Amino acid sequence: AIDIAKLRDQTGYITIDAGYKNTGATKSAITFLDGEEGVLNYRGYSIEELAEKSSFLEVSYLLIYGELPTTQQLADFEYEIKTHTLVNEDMRKIFEGFPVNAHPMGVLSSLVSAMSAFYPENADQDPEEVTQLHIIRLLAKLPTIATWSYKKSQGHPVNYPKNDLDYCSNFLNMMFSLPVANYEVDPVVSAALNKLLILHADHEQNCSTSTVRLVGSSHANIYSSISSGISALWGPLHGGANQEVIEMLEAIRQDGGDTQKYIDMAKDKTSGFRLFGFGHRVYKNFDPRARIIKKAADDVLNKLGINDPVLEIAQQLEKAALEDEYFVSRKLYPNVDFYSGIIYRALGIPTNMFTVMFAIGRLPGWIAQWKEMRTNKEPIGRPRQVYTGAPKRAFIPINER
Ligand code: ACO
Repeated sequence: AIDIAKLRDQTGYITIDAGYKNTGATKSAITFLDGEEGVLNYRGYSIEELAEKSSFLEVSYLLIYGELPTTQQLADFEYEIKTHTLVNEDMRKIFEGFPVNAHPMGVLSSLVSAMSAFYPENADQDPEEVTQLHIIRLLAKLPTIATWSYKKSQGHPVNYPKNDLDYCSNFLNMMFSLPVANYEVDPVVSAALNKLLILHADHEQNCSTSTVRLVGSSHANIYSSISSGISALWGPLHGGANQEVIEMLEAIRQDGGDTQKYIDMAKDKTSGFRLFGFGHRVYKNFDPRARIIKKAADDVLNKLGINDPVLEIAQQLEKAALEDEYFVSRKLYPNVDFYSGIIYRALGIPTNMFTVMFAIGRLPGWIAQWKEMRTNKEPIGRPRQVYTGAPKRAFIPINER
């Protein structure tokens, strides 16, 4: 049993809040989220409007610098990014050492961490200018690095960036063009990717973002901080859920399409199975991003003339869950990851790259949050604990144990 009086004498009062369900770690002016009402705003602008009317780099600028850019500011920002899309050829040597079946998230996190070795900070540089350069490098190089894993998995040469293309088209071109054939980026595909990236761009103090802020709070460099965020995102309870969703839908399809069987399994706590893409720590009504993505999935599949049987399974599963007392009483609704995989699949992105796509989208959010944390001079993050281990005891020499 915990001796509360003694503990208080030693440490003062400590709040235990496992999973930080009710603990605010910071004040932030970046993203507003109302889980009860299903509201998500970046810097005051609704996610619905941004997804409809803006570009991913415009939203990145908004998140990082606080205001929507003017035409000139956006053009300068885009130009700066374009001039940094090439990645140091020595980074390729590191990349070549990874096995062909390495998970692209492990590769991405390692290579972003490696960027700190290629772009070290010198004491004689202006810190603000250096930070700005790091931000541009990250935004510019992440898509380039991300495509390498896919190319290697196909046994194809990597593609260099093409700076006459916009951000999304450039990524798609690096992914899918081959030296032996012409590849034209389909504007429908590029527009869908733009929307998906915007929807993922920030989500206040989620697991990966909190990780970025916590690591950065020790004044670790931005590359190490973002690399830690990528690792946190990889987990199946966070960004890794988008890969799990499509694998689950595919398994249900191959198992004969009996969605009820899987609903029952998810309700059975002894099964160890959860319905991936359902539930959210904060949204207890609906996830506004899921609503936009669901419609986008319909549109994209229609426009591309794709008939994906897993979309039907997803719709059946959603309907059955929303009518089921277990899911209704726990307020478990489809989250952003439930339909995003279906779109990624339609765009030709392989399943093990889904979480990488999430990372590309979340990058401006991580950067904005890292920058805010440093600008506000937040103290090093250092939670406390309640000790539950052995009381003080005497050391026993090894031959007496
Ligand atoms: N399937 C079945 N039951 C679920 C699910 C699910 N997907 N999600 C939650 N529950 C149940 C829990 O078992 C628990 O039931 P109980 O009250 O009877 O014990 C209750 O709902 C509350 O769930 P918690 O795990 O306590 O909720 P928490 O806020 O800690 O977790 C999380 C949220 C991690 C998202 C959870 O809902 C989950 O594991 N979902 C599946 C994974 C997923 O889709 N993750 C992506 C999240 S979105 C994102 O990161 C972009």
